Amino acid sequence: MTTFGTATAISTATAFSEPSGTATALLLLGRGSDASSERGVECPGDLPAPSDPTLVDRARAAKQKLGDRLFVLGHHYQRDEVIQFADVTGDSFKLAREAAARPDAEFIVFCGVHFMAESADILTSDAQRVILPDLAAGCSMADMAAISQVEAAWDVLEEVGAAGMTVPVTYMNSTAAIKGFVGRHDGLVCTSSNAKRALTWAFERGQRVLFLPDQHLGRNTAVREMGFDLEDCVLYDPHKPGGGLTAQQLREAKMILWRGHCSVHGRFTLDCVNDVRNRVPGVNVLVHPECRHEVVTAADQVGSTEYIISTIDAAPAGSAWAVGTELNLVRRLANAHPDKEIMFLDRTVCYCSTMNRIDLPHLVWALEELVAGRVVNQITVDPDTAHYARLALDQMLALPQTVSVD
Ligand code: 13P
Ligand code: SF4
Repeated sequence: MTTFGTATAISTATAFSEPSGTATALLLLGRGSDASSERGVECPGDLPAPSDPTLVDRARAAKQKLGDRLFVLGHHYQRDEVIQFADVTGDSFKLAREAAARPDAEFIVFCGVHFMAESADILTSDAQRVILPDLAAGCSMADMAAISQVEAAWDVLEEVGAAGMTVPVTYMNSTAAIKGFVGRHDGLVCTSSNAKRALTWAFERGQRVLFLPDQHLGRNTAVREMGFDLEDCVLYDPHKPGGGLTAQQLREAKMILWRGHCSVHGRFTLDCVNDVRNRVPGVNVLVHPECRHEVVTAADQVGSTEYIISTIDAAPAGSAWAVGTELNLVRRLANAHPDKEIMFLDRTVCYCSTMNRIDLPHLVWALEELVAGRVVNQITVDPDTAHYARLALDQMLALPQTVSVD
């Protein structure tokens, strides 16, 4: 079995002790550290007060001083107070491409989550530094697939004779170690905007796919877009011996879906869809493919965050849209389109708590430290992991490009 190194946050000083083997044990955000996972760690610095009225001016001044040495990337789920400082905004695919296309920027400040910053580090040169303003900005979905679990699952596939024709595909929302595993086994990375093309590539090379770590994106893409049956998909539970599946199930499956999900998109239910259709006649339901299969099936349109934005931009005035994705983005869309009726698909408010860890105090702190000549919260991936993860990322970047998954 191969063991990969993991990304480390160089400035993280505290070691947090957890019993071994408790990969999903609760670690409070911002308390303690766990550099081998996507979960939270302490901020090592002296943060400005969130109430400081000069924060916006301070961020502007720091950006100006850093000039072309700095490039700020912002994911669409970031807060307004942060996204205003992004040089480019995008979904995880666009941001990976943008990071790779900035060889002259000495510092890439990533306003997003940990796995995105890892990917940016892998796709940029050794001389460039990638900075995540708050190291507690992880991803609960990425944490649902630990490298030791995935290696154990591959051993199971080998034991039952199913590994040979299996191509591993990982969603971008996974640790660098998982991307490295996939690259080492001749697979590739995908995002929500190219999952169909990635799966097509994989099925040209094998008979089945091990899809990590988002069961919903895997199932939705295979069934809704590629014509597979639900019965072609099996769910591999890493907490059960053999994934909770028989050798025959593993050998006959087309899609072996990892039991992982997004805690934000997993909140949207069929009831939400039915409820909004009853309340708002003629409403269009537009959801992200990380939503459950029954939600995606009941929706009118499905796509990545970039797709959701372009669909709303192109929608006629007066049209009504219930959007199933993170609330910061939905609220911004509603504000940007007062001529359209845009609402959050769920009646209950839910932000992505880890995306929201990046706030103005952390951004100002990270930028001002750079101005002072100190690099804080640098994200680095060890060279061996980075090498194989890059193979899997480059394979994704080489796929023919379109934005839509619909
Ligand atoms: P995209 O950026 O690919 O739309 O994915 C959404 C997401 O959940 C990112 O964490
Ligand atoms: Fe992870 Fe979901 Fe948050 Fe994206 S929205 S960072 S997948 S928890």
